[in-house]
Amino acid sequence: MDTNQYNYKVVKQFAFMTVIWGIVGMLVGVIIATQLIWPDFLRDIPWLSYGRLRPLHTNAVIFAFGGSGLFATAYYVVQRTCHVQLFMPRLAAFTFWGWQLVIVLAAITLPLGLTTSKEYAELEWPIDILITVVWVSFAIVYFGTIVKRKTSHIYVANWFYGAFILTIAVLHLVNSAAVPVTFFKSYSAYAGAIDAMVQWWYGHNAVGFFLTAGFLGMMYYFVPVQSGQPVYSYRLSVVHFWALIAIYMWAGPHHLHYTSLPDWAQSIGMVFSLILLAPSWGGMINGMMTMSGAWHKLRHDPILQFMIVSLSFYGMSTFEGPMMAIKTVNALSHYTDWTIGHVHSGALGWVAMVTIGTLYSLFPRLYGKTEMFSVPLIRVHFWLATVGVVLYITAMWIAGVMQGLMWRAVNDDGTLTYSFVESLEATMPYYGVRLLGGTIFLIGMFFMLYNVIKTIQGPDTADRTIPAPG
Ligand code: HEM
Ligand code: HEM
Repeated sequence: MDTNQYNYKVVKQFAFMTVIWGIVGMLVGVIIATQLIWPDFLRDIPWLSYGRLRPLHTNAVIFAFGGSGLFATAYYVVQRTCHVQLFMPRLAAFTFWGWQLVIVLAAITLPLGLTTSKEYAELEWPIDILITVVWVSFAIVYFGTIVKRKTSHIYVANWFYGAFILTIAVLHLVNSAAVPVTFFKSYSAYAGAIDAMVQWWYGHNAVGFFLTAGFLGMMYYFVPVQSGQPVYSYRLSVVHFWALIAIYMWAGPHHLHYTSLPDWAQSIGMVFSLILLAPSWGGMINGMMTMSGAWHKLRHDPILQFMIVSLSFYGMSTFEGPMMAIKTVNALSHYTDWTIGHVHSGALGWVAMVTIGTLYSLFPRLYGKTEMFSVPLIRVHFWLATVGVVLYITAMWIAGVMQGLMWRAVNDDGTLTYSFVESLEATMPYYGVRLLGGTIFLIGMFFMLYNVIKTIQGPDTADRTIPAPG
């Protein structure tokens, strides 16, 4: 099919907004990191206080930044690998404006303090209904395109995107079930330990399917494209796909160790989390080994550097996660900044870095250029991002283990060795390092925005027939 006939408009819109929302979400991250050091920072303005900005940060980075990146690449990949235009282009355009509306409504309601108080599902019921409408439209466009494909097989990246779209629909519908009392307030349909179980079944699978499966789809298309190599093992991709989606579903209770959730349920969560290491590493190894025979390209190509480093962080965080799911380890790590370190080694190291690498690979293809406006600037961004993540997560690991050890230290007479405030004071230097790392990462995003705008504005330097798999 002539590549000029693909529907790139909606891909371009989502891709550009990914960069914008990345900057907004990370800026809010930097602000809350500042507030954890200086609690008075912006405290006099209630809607900019820590408690309101924290959910704004998580929603902005996960659903606005990550979500827009997933929409953009899913729409691009499904067209390129199925050799057809998007099914129902107007509905695709609606998903763009609908999703942006969801984000704007989140940016208004969360600072106003309107929240269901369920983590990663804070938005109130009218917005939840809008999300459902947009998501169903997304599914219709995506699967409609797969149905009308001109290729005989469905390229593996689409399996991951497909699983992400279907699972998020189910998770959202079940976890958001609520009884509205006013336009701005609702109560969960579940109560007590069941509410907690449903919430973390949702929460963990949001990690598994929003923050993992969709980005693996990205990886399975863009690592081969950027390296010019076929996927290392197609068989491994199929095996780890089925293993991943079968096992993720059961791991949620590791978020509820030592709670009123039945002990057997906690143990199931722990065991399935340990098993989850295998399929996660299957994906990581498959991505890495795609480079075999072409490792020399890594030396010169900062886009590949982003992708391979992101896979290393994926491997690290999916090793760390199962360890933290072991009950005795969790007894130390839970409530500490170790969790925050783990979160950001996955979220910044894996999710953000694979998205950034992918966008640098995607923008020139969308706008008919041979490469980005400035490759040296991508290199600068790569080092800023890498140094930023490393500072962030090492600070949180050290702080987390230190907090866990201080909280459990007891004197001979059974009294606590340290007060909570002493542990906070000891944490402050590490919060400073985290703030530095986050700020460095954010600065890199501004370089990216500049590079992207210059690339879009520059003259066409290539035709659009850059080869792609499938
Ligand atoms: C400049 C980059 C970033 C900075 C400075 C930053 C900072 C922070 C801070 C200070 C917190 C609150 C920690 C606490 O409550 O103790 C937080 C939480 C969180 N952030 Fe970020 N963040 C950044 C990027 C990201 C990205 C890109 C993602 C996801 C793709 C992300 C996902 C999360 C999540 C899920 C939480 C909640 C963790 C939990 O509840 O355990 N962050 N972030
Ligand atoms: C094999 C894979 C993984 C396993 C078994 C796992 C396990 C865990 C465990 C045990 C916790 C701590 C729960 C607690 O003490 O409260 C946790 C927290 C978390 N993990 Fe992972 N993890 C994995 C991969 C990832 C990845 C790749 C990401 C991000 C892309 C991620 C994001 C998070 C987030 C956001 C939280 C904090 C949730 C909250 O309390 O708000 N995880 N994970």
